[in-house]
Amino acid sequence: MRSLIDIVDFSVEELDELMKTACDISENPEKYSKKCVGKKLATLFFEPSTRTRLSFEAAMYELGGNVIGFSDAGNSSASKGESVADTAKVISCYADIIAMRHPKAGAPYVAAENATIPVINAGDGDHCHPTQTLADLLTIYREKGRLSNLTVGFCGDLKYGRTVHSLIAALSRYEGVRIVLISPDELKIPEFVKHDILDKNQMTYIEKNCLEQEIPNLDILYMTRVQRERFDDLDEYEKLKNSYILNTQKMSLAKPDMCVLHPLPRVNEINVSVDNDPRACYFKQVQNGKYMRMALILKLLEDEKREIKHTHKNDVVINEIYCTNPRCITSCEQELEHKYKLVDKQNGIYSCVYCEKTAKMKEEN
Ligand code: CP
Repeated sequence: MRSLIDIVDFSVEELDELMKTACDISENPEKYSKKCVGKKLATLFFEPSTRTRLSFEAAMYELGGNVIGFSDAGNSSASKGESVADTAKVISCYADIIAMRHPKAGAPYVAAENATIPVINAGDGDHCHPTQTLADLLTIYREKGRLSNLTVGFCGDLKYGRTVHSLIAALSRYEGVRIVLISPDELKIPEFVKHDILDKNQMTYIEKNCLEQEIPNLDILYMTRVQRERFDDLDEYEKLKNSYILNTQKMSLAKPDMCVLHPLPRVNEINVSVDNDPRACYFKQVQNGKYMRMALILKLLEDEKREIKHTHKNDVVINEIYCTNPRCITSCEQELEHKYKLVDKQNGIYSCVYCEKTAKMKEEN
């Protein structure tokens, strides 16, 4: 079964094809309006969402299909203790494709392992958000005419920002991309992104604190919200929440064709005065997200007919290393096997298949 759990599940050629389809949909919506007649999308949202859930729902309706689902874990049988695996098996009896958001890293992976229909990761905790990346890629492509040879600045919460992790993974496959990571020390990019994506792909990147100093060099500025919901210590959130605020004064330091992106929602990190600047592209990003999700639904339902295999089952060790990450799905679903894949043979480093936290195998005495 083909699913989209991580953006690197798709090749660059497949991403190009999705963008091509999305552009065609935006120009010829009528052509696609009956493509999913008789099909059902299940939106299983265990965590709040406006854009992702409603754009998936709009996407399926505009393809002629129907939608079932829930937007609050409290209204689902998860509140009675039902596991993600059982939920996926049950929904497979009702729908043709699932879009799942969950507060724990790896929950959509578990769903994909247990469903008999395609599963789309609509955001898993602080880990990944591949369909936001689809929206980001199409927006960059439409605004800049390319995805290679760009200097891309990420600013704000790079630690918990799942959209940042997925977009860096996607950009790692394009030539000549330079990454500028702008954050407070407390919200720096996590080790799994640094080790498994930036270093492994020999990407050019720098880590900085000051937006004003870096903004003149950027082709793309990807602003992010400091996410209150991810902090265990709210005093720490209060300390960091106003770290970066993009305003017209800072925009005056930027290139005339720099493009400002933000996955949204925003709180105060982009002042509303920036919205009228032609370089502000975050509402175009929202629109592009719907077209890309339409293209994605079509692709996964088409790939299902061709029985393309799920890509996540290789080279794993089971219950030999135990994940201790409290944000991983294994922390709350005790029945799950702990699975690690070897990511660095030379140094013996393994990575949890659910949350990508790295660990070494304990040596036997
Ligand atoms: N960008 C994004 O994921 O927005 P929502 O949380 O509203 O879905």
